[in-house]
Amino acid sequence: MKRVAILTSGGDSPGMNAAIAGAVAAANSRGIEIIGIRNGYDGLLDEQFLPLSLGRVKGINSTGGTILGTSRSERFMMPEWRKRIPDILFSAGIDGLVVIGGNGSLRGAMELESMGIRTVGIPGTIDNDLGGTDFTLGFMTAVETAVKAVRRLTDVALSERGIFIVEVMGRNSGYIALFVAMATAADLVNVPERQMTNEEIAEKLRNVKDSAVVVWAEGCGDPGQLADLLKPAVKVPVAVARIGYLQRGGVPSTLDSFLGFTLGATALSTLAAGQHGVMIGIKSLEPVEVPYREAVRPNPLPGFLQENLLPLLDVR
Ligand code: F6P
Repeated sequence: MKRVAILTSGGDSPGMNAAIAGAVAAANSRGIEIIGIRNGYDGLLDEQFLPLSLGRVKGINSTGGTILGTSRSERFMMPEWRKRIPDILFSAGIDGLVVIGGNGSLRGAMELESMGIRTVGIPGTIDNDLGGTDFTLGFMTAVETAVKAVRRLTDVALSERGIFIVEVMGRNSGYIALFVAMATAADLVNVPERQMTNEEIAEKLRNVKDSAVVVWAEGCGDPGQLADLLKPAVKVPVAVARIGYLQRGGVPSTLDSFLGFTLGATALSTLAAGQHGVMIGIKSLEPVEVPYREAVRPNPLPGFLQENLLPLLDVR
């Protein structure tokens, strides 16, 4: 293997840059050339190549976002565009591709594998919704960001004597919501894996006389509907807050920088060893090869969290 490429795809997440740095360091130590592809699969279709060197990635372990840029490529979804990719890579002399991204991006890598392209994936998403890995890159940073926001909103709720419903990201997964709710001692948490109806939540909050904070996973739908139901039923003000894209930015946590560098370097050495068609996950701090099929399976909150911990968060 002489020349490999690397791209970031889908929603950006803190730790992607560390993964790029890890891959560049591992490529360099093996004398393999590494080319960055700008803007995800869109950039691959447009041949937006950026040669990477140790100098180019210096210091990026601790920066948020992705220096390569990213996209949710609509063209890549179309077979007539996708079929151009083997020729694009062949003409550029690229023997293997590292794809950093979430579920949709790794499904894309799986498609490329079926077209004969050697790929290795890295779980890059704040949602922590991929199989075969303890963590995805960016999850812990997003949790820390949301925790800070919820702590501030808790101050406001306590002072104003009101109910705050705080929506966090996570797509269809309740991981971010549960971690945030635990860390902030929220009064309630609603997650898609164990979703309460608005009526059930309203019943629990009916007698709140001072304040309450509800952490709401976006996968549970529109929190505004709960607010509308609550407003006439309770005696305190009700507000909805959405943390939104703040959760995707910022300096990666130490864990995300560490994981990013480790997974990036391991993805490169996996490709160099002739292995492909897998995502590199992390289990008990060991990098592991996870077949794409397992990685893209839904990864709901584990049973013990749902059954033993979730019910402990309740209005006091
Ligand atoms: O997958 C990461 C994520 O931030 C989800 O938590 C969220 O549902 C989605 O991306 C938002 O996507 P977009 O950037 O397309 O608005």
